[in-house]
Amino acid sequence: MHEYTYSNNILTGEGVELRAVALEFGTPLYVYSKQSLIDHCRHLERAFEGHPHVTYYAVKANANRHLLRLIAGEGLGADVGSRGELYLALESGFPPERITYSGVGKRDDEIAYALQRGINAFNVESVEEIEIIDQIADRTGAKARILLRVNLDIDAGGHAYVSTSLRQNKFGIPRRQAAEVLRRACALHHIEVRGIHSHIGSQITRGETFLRAAEALVALVRELRAAGIPVHDVDFGGGFGVQYRGYVSHPSLPAEEPEEMNLSASTLIKAVLPMLRETECRISIQPGRSVIAHAGVLLVKVLYRKEADGKVFLVVDGGMNDLIRPSLYHSYHQIVPLVVEGHPHEMVDVVGPLCESGDFFALDRLLPRVFRGEYLALLCTGAYGFALSSNYNARVRPAEVLIDGSSVQVIRNRETIEQL
Ligand code: LLP
Repeated sequence: MHEYTYSNNILTGEGVELRAVALEFGTPLYVYSKQSLIDHCRHLERAFEGHPHVTYYAVKANANRHLLRLIAGEGLGADVGSRGELYLALESGFPPERITYSGVGKRDDEIAYALQRGINAFNVESVEEIEIIDQIADRTGAKARILLRVNLDIDAGGHAYVSTSLRQNKFGIPRRQAAEVLRRACALHHIEVRGIHSHIGSQITRGETFLRAAEALVALVRELRAAGIPVHDVDFGGGFGVQYRGYVSHPSLPAEEPEEMNLSASTLIKAVLPMLRETECRISIQPGRSVIAHAGVLLVKVLYRKEADGKVFLVVDGGMNDLIRPSLYHSYHQIVPLVVEGHPHEMVDVVGPLCESGDFFALDRLLPRVFRGEYLALLCTGAYGFALSSNYNARVRPAEVLIDGSSVQVIRNRETIEQL
């Protein structure tokens, strides 16, 4: 599970020294550990203790084809949110019957493509969308299976941008309208109603939030069945929080307290499973972050150590275009040097080279003193790292490499400026 550790003061991934990887492939560089990814997939699957289910990996978290192939190889399905994600999932070996399509704004051509490829189901979000899917299915001669995404009005906690199940959020259909919407859907000739779905948000660390969601879903299944609406499938969504703080430790590094969460995705699944099982439905989940976050690190190089008015800025060669999470959500990523030299600690801002004050990885962070030319790793960046990268400031997007035992393989070439 935990593949990144210090060995003789040098940070390693699966035993490979990351400094050597940075020197060979250049920076900024996303590095993934195959073992970590596989362990996280298996850990999630074991939580179901043999109960029939499908885990649809949320492709949006990281859509690298090589990583998708590994995830498909572990027997997971895929949840996609665009034509591009569906294409990548199919190309990477996910069977269509283990693919679901989520999202509040599916285009007509995306719906047609998904129907034509025979995906398992659409998670639908509005009456209009259901009617459009019915019409497109009519044209293509297919029958579309749907699950209705229900907005449970539950506060997932965490950042407002990734909380998706509050009444004011654009997602899903309010719980009290679910029966009516599904009744209308049942009357459509090219729609097969399979059940209900909810995804309440991301990086949720409180167990009781998931318990409330499970309770609400189970109650809704009962109500719907009492109203004569068939419910075969319950998709519980994703959102299982992961540890970001204190992931790696070393006696010479500032001690970092892990966030207050003693719950892993698998513990959370085990907690809600008995409740969901009561429905006797086919159960599924859609984890993204908890599959891939811990497998990835972003390596950057210190360009300058700049002192100004008592502040120290470490200007590194990666920026918000490579990893936007700190800028966008004020997310915390542990930052550690690739080589620990035992220097005294100092308070620094770790900033990128882009022309915005919002271009930072960490503000007022205690780090051992590092100098120009040294390397840093931003940990737990496998999820929503590269996936949210951009060409802002006409910067090329970073390369990605995969560590597999002692071998390190490029799984995405660094862009070139000619490709811009
Ligand atoms: N299912 C649906 C319908 C989703 O929209 C998402 C994520 C997931 C599953 C997977 O959620 P996860 O298990 O990864 O929490 N960019 C943000 C996170 C956005 C999540 C979007 N939806 C971040 O970097 O924190």
